[in-house]
Amino acid sequence: MRNLLVKVFFYAASVYFLLIFFLNIGFQNTEWDWKNTNTYDIFFPKEFLWGTATAAHQVEGGHTNNNWYWWESQKKENGEPRILNNDVSGIAVDHWNRYPEDIQLMKDLGTNSYRFSLSWSKIMPKPLVFDSLSLEHYSDLIDSLLAHDIEPMITLHHFEEPLWFMKMGGFEKEENIPYFLEFSKKVILLYADRVSYWTTFNEPNVFINEGYFSGYFPPGKKDARIAGIVLKNILKAHISTYELAHKLNNAASLKVGLVMSIFLFEPANYLNIIDWLGTYLANDGFNETILRFLKTGNYRYLVLPFGRPIKYTDLNATKSFDFIGVNYYSHLAVKMNLLDPIESLQPVKDEELTEMKRYTVFPDGLYDAIKMTSDLNVPIYITENGIGDSKDIYRGNFINRSLYAVSEAIKDGYDIRGYYYWSLLDNFEWSLGYSQKFGLYEVDLKTQERSLRKGSKQYQNTVLRFSQQN
Ligand code: FCB
Repeated sequence: MRNLLVKVFFYAASVYFLLIFFLNIGFQNTEWDWKNTNTYDIFFPKEFLWGTATAAHQVEGGHTNNNWYWWESQKKENGEPRILNNDVSGIAVDHWNRYPEDIQLMKDLGTNSYRFSLSWSKIMPKPLVFDSLSLEHYSDLIDSLLAHDIEPMITLHHFEEPLWFMKMGGFEKEENIPYFLEFSKKVILLYADRVSYWTTFNEPNVFINEGYFSGYFPPGKKDARIAGIVLKNILKAHISTYELAHKLNNAASLKVGLVMSIFLFEPANYLNIIDWLGTYLANDGFNETILRFLKTGNYRYLVLPFGRPIKYTDLNATKSFDFIGVNYYSHLAVKMNLLDPIESLQPVKDEELTEMKRYTVFPDGLYDAIKMTSDLNVPIYITENGIGDSKDIYRGNFINRSLYAVSEAIKDGYDIRGYYYWSLLDNFEWSLGYSQKFGLYEVDLKTQERSLRKGSKQYQNTVLRFSQQN
């Protein structure tokens, strides 16, 4: 009997270690030895789009009618404010009024493209009612960009929704999708003669995780099943918007894409099979649910921990994007905690921490993020990449190293057409308020004065070096 037990134990241990061995072999992050890498040794094609990115609620100011405006006045269950330091977006960095000055800042950087979002709540203050002043505002913004040779890229939905839409159940209800389509139709009809690049949704994976799973974003729900339904409906709305855009007369030549946040995950302990399982689940839920749907038309959302998966198929998904936008910030270690999945995500050990909690400085990962999206077989735009760094310690190197990773990816044959730094300006970082400093330009929130950070000059140098090629 004792011998048998020893044997069973021996076999089980062998299988375990063999499995761990193969898992470890199969897992490889692309990383560089930065001390011995010449980040000046890069190449970008002449037509490359060099840009900066912002989102309406984070920079414009004057939002009084959307999900975030409401959220900023709410309290957590323990009575603390929803937004760190009780911040409210308020006039933000007043980009609504100061965009002419901000376009000059883009010019000073040498950039030739600008990614921004339209405020659905300003444009459609009531269901199916349009506000002509807001529509004119964006029209003027577009004209000014073009007059300065800056190619606009518009995001239709960047975490912000009209409050009336949220109150009627938002994307939890499939029957609400037409409101978003009417908004999209209107702005595409008005601006498509001047704007070629459109993205439907910014980071649906972040939007549902924060708004419906962890509850950090409005509407503050914590229900994996609802999160899975919202994601499904957002992807439906994405497909319909794509089809609609290509049907409208003046819009046939538009390029319409979806923007994904890609996070790389790895086990906190490489010898722990449970952490490997957690890594698989995190990657599946966060990255693969959407990637798989776009590749195959099959939607499968795992309702963790024990719910029945949500499934649905629409083959049109595979033809619903002319390009893909990749937002990349960092990677995370998974220390599996089934009872509290959010707590499973930890900063990767032995790396410098940025000011954005859990994000370590890991520019290398941009290469693997590109690789992950490359089998969608469409052009890739890096629609966001940046670092929260108020002291400007890491920014310069982060920029050089990220651009090196992009350049290496281009060299290796990946079809990358543009790079947008997040962000042009410091801004309202959602539930973290004004605590995070992502701007190439620092903004004094009292005077609204903008000044270029030292580290940002690395971006300016590279942009000027390559955007002036003949
Ligand atoms: C991304 C968001 C963007 C900004 C950055 C830091 O997930 O798209 O609005 O908050 O993170």
